[in-house]
Amino acid sequence: MRVKEIPEEIRRRIEELREEIEYHNYRYYVLAAPVISDQEYDKLVQELIELERAYPELVTADSPTQRIGDKVLDEFKSVEHSEPMLSLDNTYDEEQIREFDNRVKRSLELHSVEYVAELKIDGVSVALRYEEGRLVLGLTRGDGTRGEDITENLKKIRTIPLRLRQPVDVEVRGEIYMPTEVFERLNSDRIERGEPPFANPRNAAAGTLRQLDTRITRERHLDSFIYYVVHPERYDLKTQWDALSWLKTVGFKVNPNSKLCSNVQEVIEYWKEWTKRKDQLPYWVDGVVVKVNQFELQSTLGMTAKAPRWAIAFKFPAERVETRLIGVTIQVGRTGVLTPVAELQPVQLAGTIVKRASLHNFDYIQEKDIKIGDWVYVEKAGGIIPQVVSVDVNRRSGEEQQIQIPRVCPVCSGRVGKLNDEDVALRCLNPHCPAKLKRSLETFAARSALDIKGLGEKIIEKLVDSGLVKDLADIFYLTPFELTQLGSGIGHKTIANLLSEIEKAKTAPLHKIITGLGIPMVGEKTARVLVQNFRSIKKLSNASFEELTQIQSIGPEVARSIREYFEDPKTKELIEKLEKAGVRLESEEESKQQTLSGLNFVITGVLKNFTRNQIEELIQSLGGKVSDSISRNTDYLIVGEKPGSKLEKATSLGVKTITESEFLKLAKVDIKNLRQQKLF
Ligand code: IVH
Repeated sequence: MRVKEIPEEIRRRIEELREEIEYHNYRYYVLAAPVISDQEYDKLVQELIELERAYPELVTADSPTQRIGDKVLDEFKSVEHSEPMLSLDNTYDEEQIREFDNRVKRSLELHSVEYVAELKIDGVSVALRYEEGRLVLGLTRGDGTRGEDITENLKKIRTIPLRLRQPVDVEVRGEIYMPTEVFERLNSDRIERGEPPFANPRNAAAGTLRQLDTRITRERHLDSFIYYVVHPERYDLKTQWDALSWLKTVGFKVNPNSKLCSNVQEVIEYWKEWTKRKDQLPYWVDGVVVKVNQFELQSTLGMTAKAPRWAIAFKFPAERVETRLIGVTIQVGRTGVLTPVAELQPVQLAGTIVKRASLHNFDYIQEKDIKIGDWVYVEKAGGIIPQVVSVDVNRRSGEEQQIQIPRVCPVCSGRVGKLNDEDVALRCLNPHCPAKLKRSLETFAARSALDIKGLGEKIIEKLVDSGLVKDLADIFYLTPFELTQLGSGIGHKTIANLLSEIEKAKTAPLHKIITGLGIPMVGEKTARVLVQNFRSIKKLSNASFEELTQIQSIGPEVARSIREYFEDPKTKELIEKLEKAGVRLESEEESKQQTLSGLNFVITGVLKNFTRNQIEELIQSLGGKVSDSISRNTDYLIVGEKPGSKLEKATSLGVKTITESEFLKLAKVDIKNLRQQKLF
């Protein structure tokens, strides 16, 4: 036999090289503390490759050279797990983790329990079987009872030992992940080649391990963290903490950030700390796994059908989650815009349960190719409003359905269309669409506007549907009798409260009223600026485009929007109706500062600060009157330079004469202020 012909020293040298290479792999990948240079390492590998080439019968499955050569498999075999691979229950906040702790302590009848807190790596879980220290099988989780044999792919991952540092029979479990940097590089390559990018490193890792061509795994640089020993008692391990350090000694890469916690409070601190620090890690994590440390206690606690009772996932508040799009509804906004809203399979996102998310508009749906039945990614925009950001096309079954663009308004069946070609929003074009009025009333009554407590969504619905309210001003004309007609759920007390709130709203600060009008692009902040500059709705409604854009924080778009709003005849009607109802449409100061109320003025000569028109307007706005000629009714003659005959007449009739600056004092007007406000 030929085997006999192989010189003993060759066998020995091959064996020696394999051990040495695995040792240096361990130093480099697991301990991150290499003891030789890359060149020296490469030399060892090269020598082994050459010897194995010369004596192919000596190649073994656990030789380090197996990490290099590639295989293309026909299929992955399905193999049963030695014991089921369980998943974990999830918790999302302090209270829930304390409940878990209480459950554990109650079951064990103990006052305190020690936990190991580990980072929850966002990867793919695998089981690795070793016989006499040699890797013989690697399985995916599969359905938990059977997994797929991905041994060949796993061999390409540098941190998975092909041979352990002790010749033990053992099965371990852990996570295969793609480091963030690798993930980002892979995705930019894919985008460049016109292939769809992976949504996250976990999908990328799963996709890679599913490849039948092992070269792909080798090139994609996956990594591993091992955290679980099956039958730890066989290695005399009493605790998870010991198991982690044993895993490291026998050659596995173990996450260095785990912490032994003597109580749940320490677990919570750990979670808080990593909530802040997680983004600094070179891989994605989505929470903390909390495990009862003592194996004996773990056995006492046992497990449910799906998950162990001795461990739980304590998730970080996710900024982005994947969930199923089960339907689309359409909301009609204040300005008639039809907004498609995603109805989602409920999912935990950044601390709340999300069931609906914005899809922005129908162009967005087309652009992102979003379909009903899709798995979609949801994020909170600005941390508040959930929105669908993308589709996981890899999870499509082919059963997904196109989202229909509405032809008519879903509320009033009115025509829909865009305002112009650049407009992305589809709008209901029916000016009497009840949905628009309802949203407008909501804006009007909102806290940032008139703050009418008790005028909420439900009552607005009834007011509009019953026909009692046909525009914003109508709420100021409501009578107790009319409100009792609205029927169920609205008692006398509610009605009295609502009416007194409405009464109060009549004297709300002007900026709140302007906010409530819902002028497109005018929010509370802009409303304040407008009040500072114009002080009354009347003045604001007469402000020209130029006057508006002269104000620093008001750009042309906002100015145009304000002009359009006030040019609409319906707005004029509304303002009149509000005024009639007794709603104060000027700023408080404006209405108080009627400094010239009841006084009659006549003007003569040339003034320094004003034209004739300007001073007349000013006097009128302060409650005074201006006449052309002196009479007994004249209170003051304002005398400018080069006065005319009026001065003589005034003196003869005993009418008081005042200079321009005396007038300003009398009127309590600061000319500098007026100039700044560009009123003159
Ligand atoms: S222990 C029976 N520890 O999270 C114990 N799991 O949602 C099972 N995972 O399927 C798991 N990091 O894929 C454990 N340090 C860690 C983990 C971890 C990530 C994954 C694992 C598991 C899933 C459960």
